[in-house]
Amino acid sequence: MSAPVPDGALLVTGGAGFIGANFVLEWLAGNHGSVVTLDALTYAGNLASLASVADDPRHTFVHGDIADRECVARLLREHRVRAIVHFAAESHVDRSIAGPDAFVKTNVLGSFALLETARAYLGTLGQAEREAFRFLQVSTDEVYGSLGPDDPPFSETTAFDPRSPYSASKAAADHLASAAWHTYGLPVLTTHCSNNYGPFQFPEKLIPLMIRNARRGERLPVYGDGQQVRDWLHVSDHCSALRAVLTRAAPGARYTIGGSSERRNLDVVRTLCALLDELAPRAGGQSYATQIAFVTDRPGHDRRYAIDQRRIASDLGWQPQVRFEQGLRDTVCWYLEHEEWVRSVESGEYRRWLDMHYANRAGTAAGASGSGPSAAASPGAPRGEEPRAAAATPPGSAAMPASREGHGR
Ligand code: NAD
Ligand code: TYD
Repeated sequence: MSAPVPDGALLVTGGAGFIGANFVLEWLAGNHGSVVTLDALTYAGNLASLASVADDPRHTFVHGDIADRECVARLLREHRVRAIVHFAAESHVDRSIAGPDAFVKTNVLGSFALLETARAYLGTLGQAEREAFRFLQVSTDEVYGSLGPDDPPFSETTAFDPRSPYSASKAAADHLASAAWHTYGLPVLTTHCSNNYGPFQFPEKLIPLMIRNARRGERLPVYGDGQQVRDWLHVSDHCSALRAVLTRAAPGARYTIGGSSERRNLDVVRTLCALLDELAPRAGGQSYATQIAFVTDRPGHDRRYAIDQRRIASDLGWQPQVRFEQGLRDTVCWYLEHEEWVRSVESGEYRRWLDMHYANRAGTAAGASGSGPSAAASPGAPRGEEPRAAAATPPGSAAMPASREGHGR
């Protein structure tokens, strides 16, 4: 005899990371039900982000790996899990270039193990529970590759064309998830979201790294010519999109999710500097923009991402709510108020990463009025695109003091 339809828990993998933590906090705040967070607590996972729900009886934290099938099977069974929201991943492109193995291990093999464990669990459920069960594969727009300035945005029907080990590993997991749906009927939902920003983002990613470095008087390392375009979405908008997909989308559905906020990297960094100049001015009155430095580009650097989100808007009525300028201001305020959180996540491993990744990246200062890259920039222009002419460092832009080179650590 099958059990009654469970009001079982949500299993959130990677819930101690940036988006996962925001998702768990919002899910509990919205009283949507109980949550089991499974997280391996890599360098990017921080229990401090979940401190406010540490004593919440609706929340269980489990320190474990998505590839540990026994552990996951037990959690699914004991908590009568009704849906898995799969965030756990190695998520930083630069790290995937420096060391791709961990990306294949977690993003491909780990995701495969999780899909298989979910499939076995599905087989133990009664019909009603099986019909209600969902596996939400949280993926990225980066699986679609790189756009030219006039190309149409990515949509659900764009062919995968990943360029980095990170995006290739996410694309592989997406294919496995899709296969689990088509072959075994595992009710998979897949989302491809653009760049997120907001509270609790690990300071290896562009926005929190720039805020952190600015406050420490270190250089603000802009890769290449800084003209790459990203579409930015506030993490709370991403979480609301995921809730909409989880609760209203048909099994097998796929959605692209974006913020309709395409910005050039250099413009984002300059806006951050202007916000910091206003909210936490430097002693001496100089702008934080004097700390901007153009450094050696990322190899294979994707030039532009953009999202066509008409399908999620029309199917599920979802629209982003946070305007980028307001969201960025709020994010800067959050980081200024939580400098202790930033310090607490800066493990020895993180500092080794900064030293390894940035110390040998040649660069020159842009200065407050800088508009172009240094001659050292742009070796990593995407295939099929001419490297842009390197502009001279603009007149009047002072070179950075030697102590700020190499991240000044
Ligand atoms: P993050 O790096 O901040 O967090 C990843 C979390 O996964 C960490 O808590 C880490 O400890 C955990 N983890 C890693 N390996 C694990 C394993 N084997 N088992 C269990 N837990 C493990 O990442 P994020 O920025 O929060 O991204 C979350 C997801 O969203 C990822 O799948 C990423 O590909 C996707 N995504 C991110 C963005 C973005 O802009 N950050 C955009 C689109 C999609
Ligand atoms: P990132 O936050 O790493 O996200 P993603 O690579 O997934 O888009 O980087 C966002 C953009 O910022 C990307 O074009 C690379 C660029 N970037 C820099 O210019 N300097 C930096 O130090 C970092 C971390 C990123």
